[in-house]
Amino acid sequence: MIRCLIPDLPQATELLPWLQRIDASRWYTNGGPLVREFEQRLCAFLEGGGSDASCVTLSSGMSSLELGLLALGVGAGKRVLLPALTGPNGEPPLFTDFTYDNIGMPKNPMNPFYYAPPSVNPDRGQWIDPGLGGFLKAAGYPPEVYEPEWGKQKVPTLRNVDKRPYPEFVKAFGHNGFFKSLEQIVHFYNTRDVEMWPPPEVAENVNTDELGNLGLTADEEAALVAFMKTLTDGYTP
Ligand code: HEM
Repeated sequence: MIRCLIPDLPQATELLPWLQRIDASRWYTNGGPLVREFEQRLCAFLEGGGSDASCVTLSSGMSSLELGLLALGVGAGKRVLLPALTGPNGEPPLFTDFTYDNIGMPKNPMNPFYYAPPSVNPDRGQWIDPGLGGFLKAAGYPPEVYEPEWGKQKVPTLRNVDKRPYPEFVKAFGHNGFFKSLEQIVHFYNTRDVEMWPPPEVAENVNTDELGNLGLTADEEAALVAFMKTLTDGYTP
C-alpha cells in the first residue's frame, strides 16, 4: 500500500481547553491570541530559543505561497511554476503535468498505420511518430528548437484513464496503443531499463531520469493501478 496521509490528530478532549480559550477570547479569525502564542512557541522551537527569528502561520498553502512571493518581490506579470494538481486555468485535477516527454514507448507492431498504402504512409513499417518535435519541424522551427522535442508526446491526463464502455472492453494505452493494460504500462515504468523490453519507437530524448528503474515491488505496482482505477468518474469501490 502507498500511503498518502497518516492522520495523527489529538483526541477531542485534548482539544477542548483550547477551544474554550478561543471562546473566552472571542477571537475566531486570523491573528488571534492563540495563533500568536502558537507562532511564538513554534519560532522558539525552530530557532532553539533565538530571539531575532520571526514566524508567521497562514490558513492555507495558497496564502503561504502568496506571502512568500510578496516577500521575494515577485509582482504582477511574473510567472510562477506550481505543482500540476490543478490545471493552468484552475481546472479540476487532471493528473498531468501539462508537459511533453518521451517515455521510451516501444513501437506497436499492430498499429494499422504501418499497413496504410504508400500514398498515405510512404515509410510503411519504418514510420515513427516524432511527436512534438515533428510538429515543431513542420511548423518551420529550426533544428535547435525541434530536435530536443523529437519523440516527445503530450503527458496525457490520467483522469478516466481506465474508463471503458463495459468491463471486458480492451483498452490500449500510450500514443500508439502498445500497452493493453494499466498493469503493463506501470510495469514498464518500473522496469524499462532493467528487464527485456523492445527498443523505444524514438531513441532520442528518452527520459531516463524519472522512469525506467523505479524499484517498485509488485504490491506497489498494483497499488498504483488500483489508484488509477479510482480516477474514473463515478467510481465506486
Ligand atoms: C509511476 C508514475 C506514473 C504513472 C502511474 C503513469 C501512468 C501513465 C499512463 C497510464 C499512461 C497512458 C495513458 C493513456 O494512454 O491514456 C501514461 C502515459 C504517459 N506518461 Fe505517465 N505515468 C507515470 C509517470 C510519468 C512521468 C514521470 C512522466 C514524464 C516524465 C510521464 C509521462 C507520460 C507520457 C509522455 C505519456 C504518453 C506516452 C506516449 O504516448 O508515448 N509519466 N502514463
